[in-house]
Amino acid sequence: MRRLIVLASMLLATSASWAQASLQERIKTIQADPAALQAAVDAGHKASFFCANCHGDKGISKSADVPNLAGQNPAYLLEQIRKFGSGERKDAFMQGLIKVLKDEDRVQIALFYAQTPVPPGAADSGQLARGKLLFDKLCARCHGEQARGNEMFPRLAGQRQPYLQTSITRYRDGTGIRNNQLMAIATSTLKDEDIRALSHYLTQLP
Ligand code: HEC
Ligand code: HEC
Repeated sequence: MRRLIVLASMLLATSASWAQASLQERIKTIQADPAALQAAVDAGHKASFFCANCHGDKGISKSADVPNLAGQNPAYLLEQIRKFGSGERKDAFMQGLIKVLKDEDRVQIALFYAQTPVPPGAADSGQLARGKLLFDKLCARCHGEQARGNEMFPRLAGQRQPYLQTSITRYRDGTGIRNNQLMAIATSTLKDEDIRALSHYLTQLP
């Protein structure tokens, strides 16, 4: 019986990751066709009407603890939506909300936010030199020289400063709200002042 349960849960996990892989494929297929992309972006704008309450109409967030979604890589957005849905990433509002989204809504919303521009945020200029030094040394190899990310790693440039500071601290402290092994290693040597400097540097990048 135990074996059967283990087997059944393995099968379920595998089919869930297949389903996610095919959503990521769907993003690429749509992006390759300009007319399909435009239609998906328009549909994503409509489907995101409720998200706008917190993330803003164009993905520019309305409060300090809510991230901008504008300009973010669609593959990353889709993956975070999946993580909230599965409970791997924890947030009371997001976990509840995400359950109502159908697969096609998720794809369209990710494509919509990805193509809206994100303006750089205001920062404390006294933090920038230290932030840049740390970023170039510890972070740029994954997030990119200009922190614009790619399919594998999120964009950080222009993200809200308080949200960055909280997120980096959570990865470092392993609070269980957000876990990622690569990020746990990358942040393990950071002091609180380093995290503050990094978040000010990143928010003002274009
Ligand atoms: C009640 C406010 C609220 C609403 C409405 C809301 N969100 Fe969020 N969202 C948040 C907060 C807060 C976070 C950050 C959670 C954390 O600190 O990890 C977040 C995080 C996210 C992230 C992760 C971004 C990143 O950079 O990692 C995605 C993707 C997201 N939301 C998508 C959506 C979508 C799609 C909708 C609409 C279906 C939506 N949200 C509606 C508050 C909200
Ligand atoms: C080895 C690759 C790697 C390195 C080095 C790395 N990161 Fe990351 N980072 C990732 C991955 C992968 C994710 C997405 C993890 C997830 O799904 O939660 C991420 C996520 C993040 C996020 C969350 C973004 C969001 O929108 O919520 C922040 C902030 C971040 N990294 C900052 C940093 C900083 C600052 C450094 C340097 C101290 C750094 N990262 C170094 C791979 C890396």
